[in-house]
Amino acid sequence: MSWCISLYQSRARIGGFPSLGGESGAVMRIDDTHPAAVSMRALLPSACVAGGSFASWLPKPQAVQGVDRRRVFSEAKAAAVRRTLIAALEGAGAPADDVPARSEEGHRLWPDGYVGSVTHKGTVVIVAVAPRSNLLSLGIDVEFCSDDGCQLDGLVFAEDEEAPFDPPEENVAHLMTLAAKEAVFKACYPLRGQRLAFKDVRLTWERPSNGARAATAEVPGGLVIPVRCSVPLPWICSSAEIIAPGGV
Ligand SMILES: CC(C)(COP(=O)(O)OP(=O)(O)OC[C@H]1O[C@@H](n2cnc3c(N)ncnc32)[C@H](O)[C@@H]1OP(=O)(O)O)[C@@H](O)C(=O)NCCC(=O)NCCS
Repeated sequence: MSWCISLYQSRARIGGFPSLGGESGAVMRIDDTHPAAVSMRALLPSACVAGGSFASWLPKPQAVQGVDRRRVFSEAKAAAVRRTLIAALEGAGAPADDVPARSEEGHRLWPDGYVGSVTHKGTVVIVAVAPRSNLLSLGIDVEFCSDDGCQLDGLVFAEDEEAPFDPPEENVAHLMTLAAKEAVFKACYPLRGQRLAFKDVRLTWERPSNGARAATAEVPGGLVIPVRCSVPLPWICSSAEIIAPGGV
């Protein structure tokens, strides 16, 4: 669905963000060449994947009082999520008059006939949307691997669960497992309303090929879900797809 990308850029001229120092009407691009966005598009050819980094929207830290930084960041992020939601919906051919509301449980309520998922980390926002004729549900997750931020000490593994093959470092294996299971959770929850814990889901990884890593996730209740993961370090991207009968 490469047409998503040009459509997305053509939608970029949507007002400015005065509190961010943007000029009204200025083109404020989300950087869709960000490695996490590029990787996620490659993982999910059956969906329209929009998004990237909104880092260029932010003023230099010294230009904003410390107390205002959180607000400025939140405003920029909310605007980036909104724009990315609309771009992904339009790219998938879904109604995009407004952004989907959130359910009480936190997931988005996609238009009839469509499914989707949202992830954000730092200045990266990514949304994937697909027709329900292709996918019954999908989940995506992006994580950032910092030196001190991804020591999960095996908390994410089920009993006797194998780590991914050949991760660059042990903590990357933990974070790949976390990202894959969060994608599985996001795909499963809207269908089954089930609050899965990390140890409820068991991943079986295939050997890596072409940079992407595939796994199957066994979920309580007998569901087996294909998962994909790529690791454009320091970013880790994961997708989980529940394929519709006859879907691609
Ligand atoms: C919901 C959850 C998975 C979000 O993950 P995260 O890494 O914290 O945050 P992300 O930025 O990647 O994802 C946020 C998006 O998740 C989506 N989301 C929130 N609750 C959701 C749910 N119950 N089902 C599906 N998607 C959900 C939302 O769209 C949200 O973005 P939005 O508010 O802008 O629309 C996480 O907060 C959570 O509750 N985890 C506990 C469940 C879990 O992970 N179990 C172990 C895995 S099996």
